[in-house]
Amino acid sequence: MFCIAKLAIFYSCQYYLQYFRDINKIKQRMASILAFAGSNSSISINFKLIQFTASLVNDHELRVLNLANYPFPMYSYDEEKNNGFVNSLIEFKNDIDVAQGLIIAVNEHNGNPSAYFKNLLDWFSRVDKNFLVNTKIFLMSTSYGKRGASGSLGVIEKLIPRFGGELVSIFSLPSFGENFDESKGIINPELAEQHKKALQQFLATL
Ligand SMILES: Cc1cc2nc3c(=O)[nH]c(=O)nc-3n(C[C@H](O)[C@H](O)[C@H](O)COP(=O)(O)O)c2cc1C
Repeated sequence: MFCIAKLAIFYSCQYYLQYFRDINKIKQRMASILAFAGSNSSISINFKLIQFTASLVNDHELRVLNLANYPFPMYSYDEEKNNGFVNSLIEFKNDIDVAQGLIIAVNEHNGNPSAYFKNLLDWFSRVDKNFLVNTKIFLMSTSYGKRGASGSLGVIEKLIPRFGGELVSIFSLPSFGENFDESKGIINPELAEQHKKALQQFLATL
């Protein structure tokens, strides 16, 4: 009787040890990804592209942020001197620090990133000039126009290394109204394939 009890304890210990080993392996395999659009619009098409992209990521830990919920004051010397950094900026920066990869979709205003997103980058650079160090980035953009906000994408593409980030793949979705469906995502097969490849290229680096 005593032997049976000892055996039962032995096997249940083995079971729990294996369970914790497996959990650890899964944690090591999973990388944390932060995904957001560089837009403060509550109906952002770039955020829709982010949500669709996030829906295709299955085997990585991923968090989506909606920046429509993140208002930031306009950067100025006086704002920083008098009021410092807002808590949400520091929390966001901490989230970026722990993420191994970022998926960002940038909008375009007059051939450039929106003032909202440029302002956010200016704030981050004041917290830490190298705020993207050790961070892999999949950069996307979309607009209703044929160029798919590629002007804005080009500006951010050049800025990423300045902040220490590593751009690993890019994708621009032109003519959002024609090529994207709210329930199906990217409906143009060629563009869907391009998007999938760019995403896979990014995920493979994590
Ligand atoms: C001030 C302003 C300027 C814009 N300039 C451009 C532009 O240069 N190129 C473009 O493709 N779309 C332009 N648009 C249209 C935006 O791409 C469109 O509003 C889009 O929805 C913005 O992305 P979002 O919804 O993710 O914020 C502009 C819109 C505004 C309000």
